[in-house]
Amino acid sequence: MYPTPATAPASVGRLHFPPGFLWGAATAAYQIEGAVAEGGRTPSIWDTFSHTPGKVAGGDTGDIACDHYHRYRTDVTLMSHLGLQAYRFSLAWPRVQPGGRGPANAAGLDFYSRLVDELLDAGVQPVATLYHWDLPQELEDGGGWAARETAERFGEYAALAAEALGDRVALWTTLNEPWCSAFLGYGSGVHAPGRTDPALALRAAHHLNLGHGRATAALRATLPGHARIAVSLNLHHVRPLTADPADLDAARRIDAVANRVFTGPMLSGGYPADLRADTAHVVDWDTLVKPGDEAAIGAPLDLLGINYYTPALVSAPAAGPAEDRHAHGDSPHSPWPGSEHVRFHLPPGETTGMGWAIDPTGLYDLLMATSRAHPGLPLAITENGAAFPDVRSADGLFHDDDRIDYLHQHLAAVHRAIADGADVRGYFLWSLLDNFEWAYGYEKRFGAVHVDYTSQLRTPKASARWYARTIGSNSIPAR
Ligand code: FCB
Repeated sequence: MYPTPATAPASVGRLHFPPGFLWGAATAAYQIEGAVAEGGRTPSIWDTFSHTPGKVAGGDTGDIACDHYHRYRTDVTLMSHLGLQAYRFSLAWPRVQPGGRGPANAAGLDFYSRLVDELLDAGVQPVATLYHWDLPQELEDGGGWAARETAERFGEYAALAAEALGDRVALWTTLNEPWCSAFLGYGSGVHAPGRTDPALALRAAHHLNLGHGRATAALRATLPGHARIAVSLNLHHVRPLTADPADLDAARRIDAVANRVFTGPMLSGGYPADLRADTAHVVDWDTLVKPGDEAAIGAPLDLLGINYYTPALVSAPAAGPAEDRHAHGDSPHSPWPGSEHVRFHLPPGETTGMGWAIDPTGLYDLLMATSRAHPGLPLAITENGAAFPDVRSADGLFHDDDRIDYLHQHLAAVHRAIADGADVRGYFLWSLLDNFEWAYGYEKRFGAVHVDYTSQLRTPKASARWYARTIGSNSIPAR
């Protein structure tokens, strides 16, 4: 005999998220806005890079992108139809403060102010990211993130943004994926500004960290007390290929230069000794890191944003042929200063349209490991999603079951991590719209909403409807 409830609870067959779990979607300024020369905006490093022949697939640029700058009202309507509770967008620094120095540009701020008002009117909580890779070109001309001055400028820009929007935006993230800015931007060179020098990459990492510290201080000083401050890191879930000590050491090295180079000073008191040792021949850390820097970078945060797409499987060089595409993009230059010899392997199983392994266990493991490493710090998934070669069906719609499956598997992993004690407060799907996927141009589509780049027509895919049901029920089907 076992007890049977008289009526099955409504939740049978579904995995429910905690009450108040925040459901959102994310985008970034250069990937969707277009209007690159309007409202006083000056060029960013991504304008320069995308207009440099050979840097972006198909010669694509963000000049027009999704034309969101002109169509933001339509896009907010779309968000409210999906039932989005929050929208994570980024501010284009060269719109807010052209050239990266001096006073704010009223027209640039006005765009974001109107967007924020529109979101609030629609009941969608605005979540602002200060930096999603579009450094003002003038600052790059002065050395970019490899120059310490850029960190100081970033703090000033943060204050301008917070003064203008802080009365209405209650959740801020400073940097998006500083790993990409530093190591793809200055190491492998597959991202803007396209420089390829391991020492510059590490200098950039430190100055991004310092910029985060300066911005956090500026936001704290300017925002009302209830506002929350976060950073979004693409923490790598690094697995060794085997239990061989050489492979374990390869994993330790990549964990250091992918993750702990940021979480060390931001959350754990300073740069890890093993990172400094692994890279001592590349930079002089004692000169790079000034007294007080680590304390500034370690200013307390309210939330850690994690962007997750795929794990990393690594080994020492002896382990045979390797899949280096994920590690290096199309560049002969390594994004891993001091650990250039580490081999990257394609994990087994299916891949997305990016060629990235689909591995929701990696997300679960990453959430659990991050929770254990930083107890008491709330987490949110600030990006997760997948590109697939979407095809319009005869009915005119996009039946992107592969994307639904990806989202379902990853949300189930988040649900399991919460059940096992991880304090995950929300989830932001990447991305609301198909958009300019950096060096891949427009060919790779991550949107829950399809964008026809000729007509700018938006068509919600099946995944958008699936996500709307997920939000509406605060649950996913238990499979
Ligand atoms: C992340 C970026 C985001 C988008 C996704 C696919 O690394 O933050 O802009 O390109 O990958």
